[in-house]
Amino acid sequence: MDWPKRKPWLVLVVTTIVLVEVFGNVNGCFPEEKKSLLEFKAAYCNETLLPSWVDHPNSDCCHWERVTCDSSSGHVFNLSLQNLGKHDINGDCLSPHLNWSLFLSFKELTSLDLSHNCFQDFVFYEGIICQMKQLEELHLNGNNLQGTLGTCLENMTSLRTLDLSHNSLRGSLPDSIRHMPSLRILNLGYNNFSGKVPDIFDGGTSQSDTHQVSGLNIIDLSHNQLCGELDNNLWIPSSLVFLSLQGNRLTGVIPDIYPVSQSINIVALDLSDNDFTGTIPGSIYGIESLVFLLLAGNQLQAELSSQICQLKSLQILDLSRNNITGSIPSCLNNIAFRDIKIIVSHGIETSVSYGQARRYIAPMFRLMFRLGEVQFMTKGSFFSYEGSSLKTMSALDLSSNQLTGEIPHELGDLRSLHSLNLSHNRLNGSIPENFHNLQNIESLDLSNNSLSGQIPLDLQDLYSLEIFNVSYNNLSGIAPGGNQFANFDDSNYEGNPFLHWTNSNKRVPPSPIPLDKGKKSDDSFFDLASFYWTFSASYVTVLLVLVTILWINSYWRSLWFYFVVWCLLKCFGHFLGDAFCKKIMK
Ligand SMILES: *[C@@H]1O[C@H](CO)[C@@H](O)[C@H](O)[C@H]1NC(C)=O
Ligand SMILES: *[C@@H]1O[C@H](CO)[C@@H](O)[C@H](O)[C@H]1NC(C)=O
Ligand SMILES: *[C@@H]1O[C@H](CO)[C@@H](O)[C@H](O)[C@H]1NC(C)=O
Ligand SMILES: *[C@@H]1O[C@H](CO)[C@@H](O)[C@H](O)[C@H]1NC(C)=O
Ligand SMILES: *[C@@H]1O[C@H](CO)[C@@H](O)[C@H](O)[C@H]1NC(C)=O
Ligand SMILES: *[C@@H]1O[C@H](CO)[C@@H](O)[C@H](O)[C@H]1NC(C)=O
Ligand SMILES: *[C@@H]1O[C@H](CO)[C@@H](O)[C@H](O)[C@H]1NC(C)=O
Ligand SMILES: *[C@@H]1O[C@H](CO)[C@@H](O)[C@H](O)[C@H]1NC(C)=O
Ligand SMILES: *[C@@H]1O[C@H](CO)[C@@H](O)[C@H](O)[C@H]1NC(C)=O
Ligand SMILES: *[C@@H]1O[C@H](CO)[C@@H](O)[C@H](O)[C@H]1NC(C)=O
Ligand SMILES: *[C@@H]1O[C@H](CO)[C@@H](O)[C@H](O)[C@H]1NC(C)=O
Repeated sequence: MDWPKRKPWLVLVVTTIVLVEVFGNVNGCFPEEKKSLLEFKAAYCNETLLPSWVDHPNSDCCHWERVTCDSSSGHVFNLSLQNLGKHDINGDCLSPHLNWSLFLSFKELTSLDLSHNCFQDFVFYEGIICQMKQLEELHLNGNNLQGTLGTCLENMTSLRTLDLSHNSLRGSLPDSIRHMPSLRILNLGYNNFSGKVPDIFDGGTSQSDTHQVSGLNIIDLSHNQLCGELDNNLWIPSSLVFLSLQGNRLTGVIPDIYPVSQSINIVALDLSDNDFTGTIPGSIYGIESLVFLLLAGNQLQAELSSQICQLKSLQILDLSRNNITGSIPSCLNNIAFRDIKIIVSHGIETSVSYGQARRYIAPMFRLMFRLGEVQFMTKGSFFSYEGSSLKTMSALDLSSNQLTGEIPHELGDLRSLHSLNLSHNRLNGSIPENFHNLQNIESLDLSNNSLSGQIPLDLQDLYSLEIFNVSYNNLSGIAPGGNQFANFDDSNYEGNPFLHWTNSNKRVPPSPIPLDKGKKSDDSFFDLASFYWTFSASYVTVLLVLVTILWINSYWRSLWFYFVVWCLLKCFGHFLGDAFCKKIMK
């Protein structure tokens, strides 16, 4: 046997694999870690889950599902223990009291995910979790955790990601957050925290401050009970890319925003649904990195400055539900409103509405930071990771304000825009003729204004339009009724007494099929078309490849020839004499 001589690398590989298998198994997992895992399973898990976790001397816990060990030390370093909780018959959580000491036996545990498990009590305050100083990622979101955050957090010097969102935590946010040197992602959203927003962004306000500048990339404090005014100035470190204070009870004016060091890189700023008053501070218009600016649902007043048009990277601008007066700046076409790629969870393809798009922003950022894709983002493009599908969305929402004057025809230049909502204002004049240039528009809401004149019939060319609402205006003349406009029923036009349809432009009466179904049939039409295309393309490709192969390779050519002859003989052989066949086959 001479193959080992010829293929020494193969021997090497095989030997290595055998050695790794043998010695890897000898290491096994550490008994105290195994014991803790089994205790965890017995006490807190739905018994139908984790079938690989068995109490048997030969069972190596490093090979159990959701457990990852370090290959050299053999210690557990990653536990993904989400969605294991017990529920009663109604699907409600059976909230057990978690013995956090269990996790102290994992000396090298760096990533712990206990999200969505029904855990109730919390011991940050007593500091058991804080003793796990080696932890880098901690996900406790989606439990029913009670209690407050203590100062012991600052002992967690390695922690990079802390996700405590969707729990029932309360009390004020401790200053210690600012002293966690490695923290990059902080998600405390959807809790019951109260008091003032702590000065977590601070760093450069006073030179004597010896604390290092926070390196946080993502701060999500949304949907809590934070109140009071923010300081006069908000100092933003250059690392900060995402800041959401949405859905709190903050008052006073929006502070001016300044960089701690030279640069400011913030991409998303969400201060929606608070009680901010006053105007948009001028310093915001200087933040070129902004892609999402969400200030909806406050009490902002005064006119919208045309300085807003300096924010050329904006993809979602939401100033709705405020008290903004004056006219719409005609320079808004300076903003590209390019598409954002939205990650739709678990590959579910849906048409993402603007409201949904907003909900995806925060998870999208967190995901990208966990996957280290930050560098893409700061260039203004967004990438998902494999397995997820993408959907695009860009939006301009100025609805529910006190805007007056006409709709600037420059808005018709926003060819990338997916959603435009100018409803519930006091806009007059007519719908700009050039709105038929809004090639990507999916949702156009102009309802509840004082618009007059005709609806431009060219809008029928906007094939992507799915929502079109012009009710409660004073539009007149002939209404569009062709193409997708046949799907829009009366509730999109009501309150325009002078609007009518001619016989030649008769609107198909609203079909009894709901809108969704209508869209589906559209989809299947496209599917059929694409099927034909794909079929033809494949057919031609196969043919070309075959011909090319036969052209180039004489051996294949003769093989093909014999194949054809064989087929012919199989089918028609009995017509020809045996002798003929034998002659041919030679
Ligand atoms: C931990 O393991 C889970 C599942 O195997 C994986 O998705 C996650 O990325 C891992 N975390 C780290 C920090 O390696
Ligand atoms: C355990 O999980 C299964 C399926 O995931 C579910 O049907 C069952 O109700 C769960 N049992 C408990 C006690 O939570
Ligand atoms: C919690 O777990 C630790 C370690 O497994 C154990 O020593 C301790 O007795 C447990 N405490 C309770 C209250 O079960
Ligand atoms: C931090 O850890 C040290 C020792 O590990 C301990 O003495 C101290 O009390 C901890 N700090 C807090 C705030 O818990
Ligand atoms: C939040 O705290 C307030 C009191 O500060 C309390 O009235 C309310 O019920 C709490 N909400 C939740 C969801 O815990
Ligand atoms: C808008 O301003 C008017 C008076 O200027 C006030 O009455 C109204 O409550 C304000 N609306 C909102 C939503 O702030
Ligand atoms: C437009 O904004 C109004 C009020 O802000 C809201 O009620 C309406 O649903 C929005 N239209 C669309 C199509 O989202
Ligand atoms: C239009 O909006 C105004 C306030 O912006 C409101 O008072 C009125 O009821 C709305 N009309 C309709 C028909 O929705
Ligand atoms: C629109 O309203 C403004 C006042 O807000 C008025 O000056 C202008 O003439 C109106 N334009 C039309 C076409 O009615
Ligand atoms: C609505 O438009 C008609 C003409 O189309 C005009 O006669 C009428 O005065 C307008 N009504 C209002 C309230 O502007
Ligand atoms: C169109 O807008 C009006 C007023 O904003 C609203 O009452 C109506 O429900 C909307 N129609 C549809 C189909 O959304």
